[in-house]
Amino acid sequence: MKVLITGANTGIGFATAEQLVKQGQHVILACRNTEKAKAAQNRLLALGQGKVDTVQLDLNSLDATAQAADEIADRYGSLDVLINNAGLFAKTKQFTQDGFEQQFGVNYLGHFLLTHKLIPTLEQAPKARIVHLASIAHWAGSIKPNKFRAEGFYNPLFYYGQSKLANLLFSNALAERLANSTITNNALHPGGVASDIYRELPKPVYEIMKLGLVPTSVPAKLITEMAIGDSWANRNGEYASAHMPDWKSSHAKNQQLAQDLYEESMNLVEKYL
Ligand SMILES: NC(=O)c1ccc[n+]([C@@H]2O[C@H](COP(=O)([O-])OP(=O)(O)OC[C@H]3O[C@@H](n4cnc5c(N)ncnc54)[C@H](OP(=O)(O)O)[C@@H]3O)[C@@H](O)[C@H]2O)c1
Repeated sequence: MKVLITGANTGIGFATAEQLVKQGQHVILACRNTEKAKAAQNRLLALGQGKVDTVQLDLNSLDATAQAADEIADRYGSLDVLINNAGLFAKTKQFTQDGFEQQFGVNYLGHFLLTHKLIPTLEQAPKARIVHLASIAHWAGSIKPNKFRAEGFYNPLFYYGQSKLANLLFSNALAERLANSTITNNALHPGGVASDIYRELPKPVYEIMKLGLVPTSVPAKLITEMAIGDSWANRNGEYASAHMPDWKSSHAKNQQLAQDLYEESMNLVEKYL
Protein backbone atom coordinates (compact mmCIF):
# COMPACT_ATOMS: atom_id res chain seq x y z
CA MET A 1 0.00 0.00 0.00
CA LYS A 2 1.16 3.55 -0.72
CA VAL A 3 1.14 5.66 2.45
CA LEU A 4 2.05 9.35 2.44
CA ILE A 5 3.07 10.87 5.79
CA THR A 6 3.62 14.61 6.24
CA GLY A 7 6.49 15.65 8.53
CA ALA A 8 7.91 12.13 8.54
CA ASN A 9 11.62 12.93 8.93
CA THR A 10 11.42 12.86 12.74
CA GLY A 11 9.19 12.27 15.77
CA ILE A 12 5.85 10.49 15.49
CA GLY A 13 5.85 10.66 11.68
CA PHE A 14 9.23 8.92 11.42
CA ALA A 15 8.30 6.26 13.99
CA THR A 16 5.11 5.56 12.02
CA ALA A 17 7.05 5.33 8.76
CA GLU A 18 9.38 2.84 10.47
CA GLN A 19 6.51 0.58 11.58
CA LEU A 20 4.91 0.72 8.12
CA VAL A 21 8.16 -0.02 6.29
CA LYS A 22 8.78 -2.97 8.62
CA GLN A 23 5.41 -4.30 7.43
CA GLY A 24 6.54 -4.02 3.79
CA GLN A 25 4.54 -0.90 2.88
CA HIS A 26 5.51 1.77 0.35
CA VAL A 27 5.99 4.94 2.41
CA ILE A 28 6.31 8.46 1.00
CA LEU A 29 7.96 10.93 3.37
CA ALA A 30 6.58 14.42 2.66
CA CYS A 31 8.96 16.83 4.39
CA ARG A 32 9.91 20.49 4.18
CA ASN A 33 13.67 19.92 4.48
CA THR A 34 15.05 17.70 1.73
CA GLU A 35 18.30 16.90 3.56
CA LYS A 36 16.46 15.75 6.68
CA ALA A 37 14.08 13.77 4.45
CA LYS A 38 16.99 12.00 2.69
CA ALA A 39 18.61 11.17 6.04
CA ALA A 40 15.32 9.67 7.27
CA GLN A 41 14.92 7.78 3.98
CA ASN A 42 18.40 6.26 4.36
CA ARG A 43 17.66 5.12 7.90
CA LEU A 44 14.46 3.47 6.71
CA LEU A 45 16.06 1.89 3.64
CA ALA A 46 18.67 0.33 5.95
CA LEU A 47 15.82 -1.78 7.41
CA GLY A 48 15.80 -3.62 4.07
CA GLN A 49 12.01 -3.84 3.86
CA GLY A 50 9.20 -2.00 2.07
CA LYS A 51 9.81 0.98 -0.18
CA VAL A 52 10.65 4.57 0.80
CA ASP A 53 10.42 7.77 -1.27
CA THR A 54 10.66 11.43 -0.38
CA VAL A 55 8.80 14.46 -1.65
CA GLN A 56 9.29 18.09 -0.68
CA LEU A 57 6.33 19.66 1.11
CA ASP A 58 6.38 23.02 2.87
CA LEU A 59 3.02 23.58 4.55
CA ASN A 60 4.08 27.12 5.41
CA SER A 61 3.04 28.16 1.90
CA LEU A 62 -0.28 27.36 0.22
CA ASP A 63 1.29 27.75 -3.21
CA ALA A 64 4.16 25.33 -2.39
CA THR A 65 1.64 22.90 -0.83
CA ALA A 66 -0.52 22.95 -3.97
CA GLN A 67 2.56 22.32 -6.14
CA ALA A 68 3.67 19.42 -3.92
CA ALA A 69 0.19 17.88 -4.15
CA ASP A 70 0.26 18.12 -7.95
CA GLU A 71 3.69 16.45 -7.99
CA ILE A 72 2.45 13.64 -5.73
CA ALA A 73 -0.64 13.08 -7.89
CA ASP A 74 1.47 12.97 -11.08
CA ARG A 75 4.13 10.71 -9.62
CA TYR A 76 1.89 8.14 -7.91
CA GLY A 77 -1.50 8.20 -9.63
CA SER A 78 -3.12 6.60 -6.57
CA LEU A 79 -2.62 6.71 -2.80
CA ASP A 80 -4.05 4.32 -0.17
CA VAL A 81 -3.37 6.37 2.95
CA LEU A 82 -2.72 10.01 3.80
CA ILE A 83 -1.41 10.72 7.30
CA ASN A 84 -1.65 14.44 8.15
CA ASN A 85 1.04 14.46 10.81
CA ALA A 86 3.33 17.51 10.38
CA GLY A 87 2.93 20.11 13.08
CA LEU A 88 4.61 22.63 15.30
CA PHE A 89 4.15 24.47 18.57
CA ALA A 90 5.14 28.14 18.23
CA LYS A 91 5.96 29.98 21.44
CA THR A 92 6.01 33.35 19.69
CA LYS A 93 3.69 34.89 17.12
CA GLN A 94 4.76 33.87 13.60
CA PHE A 95 3.09 33.85 10.23
CA THR A 96 2.95 31.65 7.17
CA GLN A 97 3.84 33.02 3.74
CA ASP A 98 0.13 33.72 3.25
CA GLY A 99 -0.12 35.74 6.46
CA PHE A 100 -1.89 33.16 8.64
CA GLU A 101 -0.84 32.50 12.23
CA GLN A 102 1.73 29.75 11.76
CA GLN A 103 0.10 26.95 13.76
CA PHE A 104 -3.27 27.55 12.12
CA GLY A 105 -1.54 27.74 8.73
CA VAL A 106 0.85 24.77 8.97
CA ASN A 107 -0.91 22.38 11.35
CA TYR A 108 -4.33 22.90 9.80
CA LEU A 109 -4.87 25.02 6.68
CA GLY A 110 -1.92 23.59 4.72
CA HIS A 111 -3.22 20.09 5.44
CA PHE A 112 -6.75 21.17 4.49
CA LEU A 113 -5.46 22.20 1.06
CA LEU A 114 -3.17 19.18 0.64
CA THR A 115 -5.99 16.79 1.51
CA HIS A 116 -8.41 18.32 -0.98
CA LYS A 117 -5.84 18.33 -3.74
CA LEU A 118 -5.17 14.62 -3.03
CA ILE A 119 -8.77 13.39 -2.76
CA PRO A 120 -8.91 12.45 -6.48
CA THR A 121 -5.64 10.50 -6.01
CA LEU A 122 -7.04 8.75 -2.90
CA GLU A 123 -10.17 7.93 -4.90
CA GLN A 124 -8.01 5.94 -7.30
CA ALA A 125 -7.32 3.36 -4.56
CA PRO A 126 -10.02 0.71 -3.97
CA LYS A 127 -10.35 1.94 -0.36
CA ALA A 128 -8.43 4.83 1.15
CA ARG A 129 -7.94 6.24 4.63
CA ILE A 130 -7.02 9.67 5.95
CA VAL A 131 -5.59 9.91 9.46
CA HIS A 132 -5.47 13.34 11.13
CA LEU A 133 -3.10 14.12 14.03
CA ALA A 134 -5.17 16.17 16.48
CA SER A 135 -4.39 16.54 20.19
CA ILE A 136 -5.91 16.64 23.66
CA ALA A 137 -4.72 20.27 23.48
CA HIS A 138 -7.80 20.95 21.33
CA TRP A 139 -9.50 21.62 24.70
CA ALA A 140 -7.39 24.81 24.96
CA GLY A 141 -8.71 26.20 21.69
CA SER A 142 -11.86 27.39 20.01
CA ILE A 143 -12.42 28.50 16.42
CA LYS A 144 -12.12 32.27 16.07
CA PRO A 145 -11.97 33.39 12.41
CA ASN A 146 -10.75 36.83 13.51
CA LYS A 147 -7.70 35.08 15.02
CA PHE A 148 -6.70 33.08 11.93
CA ARG A 149 -4.24 35.90 11.22
CA ALA A 150 -3.32 36.35 14.90
CA GLU A 151 -4.37 39.93 15.44
CA GLY A 152 -3.68 41.32 18.93
CA PHE A 153 -2.50 39.43 22.03
CA TYR A 154 -0.76 36.10 21.36
CA ASN A 155 -1.42 33.13 23.64
CA PRO A 156 0.56 30.18 22.18
CA LEU A 157 -1.57 27.53 23.89
CA PHE A 158 -4.79 29.00 22.50
CA TYR A 159 -3.33 29.06 19.00
CA TYR A 160 -1.92 25.53 19.19
CA GLY A 161 -5.29 24.42 20.61
CA GLN A 162 -7.18 26.19 17.82
CA SER A 163 -5.08 24.40 15.18
CA LYS A 164 -5.57 20.98 16.80
CA LEU A 165 -9.31 21.57 17.27
CA ALA A 166 -9.40 22.50 13.57
CA ASN A 167 -7.66 19.17 12.71
CA LEU A 168 -10.34 17.27 14.63
CA LEU A 169 -13.25 19.27 13.19
CA PHE A 170 -11.81 18.79 9.69
CA SER A 171 -11.69 15.02 10.21
CA ASN A 172 -15.34 15.09 11.38
CA ALA A 173 -16.50 17.30 8.48
CA LEU A 174 -14.72 15.19 5.87
CA ALA A 175 -16.01 11.96 7.44
CA GLU A 176 -19.53 13.28 6.96
CA ARG A 177 -18.95 14.65 3.45
CA LEU A 178 -17.17 11.50 2.23
CA ALA A 179 -19.49 9.07 4.03
CA ASN A 180 -20.68 7.50 0.77
CA SER A 181 -17.23 7.42 -0.82
CA THR A 182 -14.35 4.93 -0.64
CA ILE A 183 -12.41 7.19 1.78
CA THR A 184 -12.60 7.16 5.59
CA ASN A 185 -11.41 9.89 7.96
CA ASN A 186 -10.35 9.43 11.57
CA ALA A 187 -8.38 11.52 14.05
CA LEU A 188 -6.27 10.83 17.09
CA HIS A 189 -4.45 12.26 20.07
CA PRO A 190 -1.00 10.64 20.05
CA GLY A 191 -0.51 11.18 23.80
CA GLY A 192 2.20 13.24 25.46
CA VAL A 193 5.10 12.08 23.30
CA ALA A 194 8.84 12.76 23.62
CA SER A 195 9.72 14.58 20.39
CA ASP A 196 11.18 17.75 18.87
CA ILE A 197 7.81 19.48 19.12
CA TYR A 198 8.88 20.67 22.57
CA ARG A 199 12.10 22.23 21.18
CA GLU A 200 11.07 25.76 22.18
CA LEU A 201 10.52 24.85 25.86
CA PRO A 202 13.34 25.67 28.30
CA LYS A 203 15.54 22.56 28.67
CA PRO A 204 14.97 22.06 32.45
CA VAL A 205 11.19 22.28 31.94
CA TYR A 206 11.37 19.72 29.13
CA GLU A 207 13.58 17.37 31.21
CA ILE A 208 10.91 17.28 33.94
CA MET A 209 8.06 17.02 31.47
CA LYS A 210 9.79 14.16 29.66
CA LEU A 211 9.23 11.94 32.70
CA GLY A 212 5.54 11.82 31.81
CA LEU A 213 5.97 11.43 28.06
CA VAL A 214 5.80 8.20 26.07
CA PRO A 215 8.13 7.19 23.22
CA THR A 216 7.10 7.85 19.60
CA SER A 217 6.61 4.10 19.07
CA VAL A 218 3.39 4.24 21.18
CA PRO A 219 1.37 6.58 18.90
CA ALA A 220 3.08 5.06 15.85
CA LYS A 221 1.48 1.72 16.70
CA LEU A 222 -2.02 3.25 16.86
CA ILE A 223 -1.48 5.33 13.69
CA THR A 224 -0.24 2.26 11.80
CA GLU A 225 -3.37 0.37 12.86
CA MET A 226 -5.60 3.28 11.86
CA ALA A 227 -3.78 3.51 8.52
CA ILE A 228 -3.66 -0.12 7.43
CA GLY A 229 -5.07 -2.35 10.18
CA ASP A 230 -8.17 -4.52 9.72
CA SER A 231 -9.71 -3.15 12.92
CA TRP A 232 -9.99 0.34 11.36
CA ALA A 233 -11.12 -0.79 7.88
CA ASN A 234 -14.70 0.42 8.22
CA ARG A 235 -14.42 3.09 10.89
CA ASN A 236 -15.19 6.68 9.96
CA GLY A 237 -15.38 9.96 11.90
CA GLU A 238 -13.84 8.56 15.10
CA TYR A 239 -11.35 10.07 17.52
CA ALA A 240 -8.91 7.82 19.38
CA SER A 241 -6.07 8.35 21.83
CA ALA A 242 -2.78 6.47 22.12
CA HIS A 243 -2.35 6.74 25.90
CA MET A 244 -4.52 9.46 27.41
CA PRO A 245 -8.32 9.88 27.58
CA ASP A 246 -10.01 10.31 24.21
CA TRP A 247 -12.44 12.92 25.54
CA LYS A 248 -13.70 15.45 23.02
CA SER A 249 -14.43 19.04 24.02
CA SER A 250 -17.91 20.46 23.33
CA HIS A 251 -16.42 22.43 20.39
CA ALA A 252 -15.02 19.19 18.93
CA LYS A 253 -18.47 17.55 19.09
CA ASN A 254 -20.14 20.50 17.35
CA GLN A 255 -21.01 19.37 13.80
CA GLN A 256 -22.25 22.84 12.82
CA LEU A 257 -18.90 24.32 13.86
CA ALA A 258 -17.15 21.64 11.77
CA GLN A 259 -19.24 22.56 8.72
CA ASP A 260 -18.77 26.31 9.23
CA LEU A 261 -14.99 25.91 9.55
CA TYR A 262 -14.97 23.67 6.49
CA GLU A 263 -16.75 26.29 4.37
CA GLU A 264 -14.60 29.14 5.68
CA SER A 265 -11.43 27.12 4.98
CA MET A 266 -12.61 26.31 1.47
CA ASN A 267 -12.90 30.06 0.82
CA LEU A 268 -9.37 30.61 2.17
CA VAL A 269 -7.71 28.02 -0.12
CA GLU A 270 -10.06 28.30 -3.12
CA LYS A 271 -7.57 29.89 -5.48
CA TYR A 272 -5.04 27.06 -4.91
CA LEU A 273 -7.43 24.18 -5.63
N1 LIG B 1 4.59 15.20 20.75
C1 LIG B 1 3.43 15.34 21.39
O1 LIG B 1 3.37 15.27 22.64
C2 LIG B 1 2.16 15.60 20.63
C3 LIG B 1 0.96 15.66 21.34
C4 LIG B 1 -0.22 15.89 20.64
C5 LIG B 1 -0.21 16.02 19.27
N2 LIG B 1 0.98 15.98 18.59
C6 LIG B 1 0.94 16.15 17.13
O2 LIG B 1 1.66 15.10 16.51
C7 LIG B 1 2.19 15.56 15.25
C8 LIG B 1 3.66 15.17 15.14
O3 LIG B 1 4.37 15.84 16.17
P1 LIG B 1 5.77 15.35 16.75
O4 LIG B 1 5.62 15.33 18.21
O5 LIG B 1 6.25 14.16 16.04
O6 LIG B 1 6.66 16.65 16.40
P2 LIG B 1 8.11 16.81 15.73
O7 LIG B 1 9.01 15.72 16.20
O8 LIG B 1 8.49 18.22 15.98
O9 LIG B 1 7.81 16.57 14.18
C9 LIG B 1 7.03 17.49 13.46
C10 LIG B 1 7.25 17.31 11.98
O10 LIG B 1 6.50 18.34 11.30
C11 LIG B 1 7.36 18.95 10.35
N3 LIG B 1 6.99 20.31 10.00
C12 LIG B 1 7.00 21.42 10.77
N4 LIG B 1 6.69 22.50 10.04
C13 LIG B 1 6.46 22.06 8.77
C14 LIG B 1 6.12 22.69 7.55
N5 LIG B 1 6.00 24.02 7.45
N6 LIG B 1 5.97 21.93 6.44
C15 LIG B 1 6.14 20.59 6.49
N7 LIG B 1 6.50 19.94 7.61
C16 LIG B 1 6.65 20.67 8.73
C17 LIG B 1 8.74 18.92 11.03
O11 LIG B 1 9.77 19.16 10.09
P3 LIG B 1 11.25 19.67 10.59
O12 LIG B 1 11.93 18.48 11.19
O13 LIG B 1 11.88 20.15 9.34
O14 LIG B 1 10.98 20.74 11.61
C18 LIG B 1 8.71 17.49 11.55
O15 LIG B 1 9.00 16.59 10.51
C19 LIG B 1 1.93 17.07 15.21
O16 LIG B 1 0.81 17.32 14.40
C20 LIG B 1 1.62 17.43 16.66
O17 LIG B 1 0.77 18.55 16.78
C21 LIG B 1 2.16 15.77 19.24
